[in-house]
Amino acid sequence: MFKGIFITFEGGEGSGKSTHSRLLAAWLRRRGRRVLHTREPGGTVIGSKLRRILLDSKPGSMDAVVELLLYEASRSVLVNEVIRPALKAGKVVILDRFQDSTWVYQGFAGGMDRKLVEQLGKISTGGLQPDRTILLDIPARQGLSRVRRPNRMEAKPVSFHEKVRRGYLHLAKTNKKRIRLIRADRPMAEVQEAVRKAVGNVLR
Ligand SMILES: Nc1ncnc2c1ncn2[C@@H]1O[C@H](COP(=O)(O)OP(=O)(O)OP(=O)(O)O)[C@@H](O)[C@H]1O
Ligand SMILES: [Mg+2]
Repeated sequence: MFKGIFITFEGGEGSGKSTHSRLLAAWLRRRGRRVLHTREPGGTVIGSKLRRILLDSKPGSMDAVVELLLYEASRSVLVNEVIRPALKAGKVVILDRFQDSTWVYQGFAGGMDRKLVEQLGKISTGGLQPDRTILLDIPARQGLSRVRRPNRMEAKPVSFHEKVRRGYLHLAKTNKKRIRLIRADRPMAEVQEAVRKAVGNVLR
């Protein structure tokens, strides 16, 4: 019986989070692990509705506080209804974005009070922290050029996305044990190889 393991993927737009989290999930399943792979915001009935509100609303039309609270609301439902039960059942939970995204997008780059963002995060996650976080790092422009259908985050100026990248690099520096920084401006297979290595010791 394996114990539950919680792995999150972070990084800017087009860095490869969805691609590499999916590939990792498939690889682990082939090796006989039970895997739950989902994304934020979303992953629950309420979460999917909130995702639509968050990603479809026109740029600038949503108040920053409302945006923050909707993300945290979606997270709270996901943690309680999906993530905790899956961990309890011994699954590997792979999540495409988590609290670090909020810290970076709404806090570091978005200008909301970081301490407040952290406190809200503690409420919505109940203090649950990933065992490992994969940070896919890519220059903002290069990541954006990979994205085909821009949503409202992707419609923000490049300077915002550069700040997002700096925010993530700051988090990586201050959370060395949890976060593994992986250069994502490389061929897909090379990146995936690095991802598998980075989760190796938490899976054992
Ligand atoms: N290493 C890579 N080299 C070339 N193309 C890549 C690489 N990784 C991902 N891609 C391609 O870039 C695009 C964006 O990747 P993906 O959707 O996985 O990124 P994401 O981080 O999930 O983006 P978003 O922030 O928009 O959700 C996809 O078309 C994917 O196939
Ligand atoms: Mg994605």
